[in-house]
Amino acid sequence: MAVLELRDVMIGRGRRAVLSGVNAAVQPGEFIGVFGPNGAGKSTLFATLLGLLPVMQGELSVLGQPVRRGNALIGFMPQHRVQALEVRLSGWDFVASAYQGQRWGLPLLGRAGREAVQDALATVGAEALARRPLGSLSGGERQRLLLAQAILGRPRLLLLDEPLISLDPRYQQAVVELVARVQHERNLTVLMSAHELNPLLGTMNRVMYLGGGQAALGTVAEVITGPVLSKLYSAPIEVIRHGQRIFVVNGLTNSSQEAPHDADRHDALV
Ligand SMILES: Nc1ncnc2c1ncn2[C@@H]1O[C@H](COP(=O)(O)OP(=O)(O)O)[C@@H](O)[C@H]1O
Ligand SMILES: [Mg+2]
Repeated sequence: MAVLELRDVMIGRGRRAVLSGVNAAVQPGEFIGVFGPNGAGKSTLFATLLGLLPVMQGELSVLGQPVRRGNALIGFMPQHRVQALEVRLSGWDFVASAYQGQRWGLPLLGRAGREAVQDALATVGAEALARRPLGSLSGGERQRLLLAQAILGRPRLLLLDEPLISLDPRYQQAVVELVARVQHERNLTVLMSAHELNPLLGTMNRVMYLGGGQAALGTVAEVITGPVLSKLYSAPIEVIRHGQRIFVVNGLTNSSQEAPHDADRHDALV
C-alpha cells in the first residue's frame, strides 16, 4: 500500500489554490526531498497531509486512509524558533511536552510516556541533552530534540519542514545523516522539505519539486532537468551539474542582470 497517494489533488488556503492537479504516490521506505522556492507550497502541502487544511479537490490518502487531523501515523517536525517561554525548558521536558500531541503542555508522564521519551531521545542520540536548557543548545542540537518529538508516537510517516534552514553546511549534513539513520531504524517514510538540493542528493530516493502551482515527483534524473523545471515554472530554467553538485538557475539570468526573484534561485553559483 502506498504511504501517500494523491489523485488530481488541489490544495490551498482559504479559496486560493496553492497547488493543483497533483498526482503522486509515495511508497513505504522512500525518502523524498520536497523542493521549491519560498511560497511554492511546501508547508501548505504538509499542513494538508496533517489535516490542518482541507483538500480542495481530488483524492488524498495517507496509508490508505483519508487525511485526518491528529493522525498518529504521521510525525511532524515544524520549522521552529525557540520561544521565550521555552528557553529554560530542559531537553527532556521539551520532548515530553509533545507526548500524545500535548505540545507545549507539561504533562506528568506515566511509565509508558517516560519510556517513550527516553526511547526517542536515545534514538536520535540526544540523551546528553535531556537535562540541558533549550536556550543553551545549538541549532543542530535543537533539531535533534525536534526530531525526537516527531518520532514520539511511533509514526510511519515523517514530515520534516525545512530542518536544514539556518544550519551551517557541516550541521546540515549531520542532520540529514541522522534522519536517514532514524528512518532505517524505525522503518519510516520521510518527506523532508529543503531549500537546496545538494545536501540531500546522496540520501533522498526521489524529489518532489513544487513550482508554478504544480508538483513534479520523480528521481533527480527525471525531474531536475531544464525541460521539466521550465515547464513547471513556465519560464526558462537551466540545470547545471558540476561534479557531484547540481545548480538550478533562472535561464534568463546573465552576468549583467540580477535574478528577477532571488527566491527562484536554489543555489547561488559562487
Ligand atoms: N498562514 C498563511 N495564511 C495565508 N496564506 C499563507 C499562509 N502561509 C503561507 N501562505 C501562502 O500560501 C502560499 C504557499 O506558502 P507555503 O506553503 O508557506 O510555501 P513554502 O513552505 O514552500 O515556502 C504562499 O503564497 C504563501 O504566501
Ligand atoms: Mg514553508
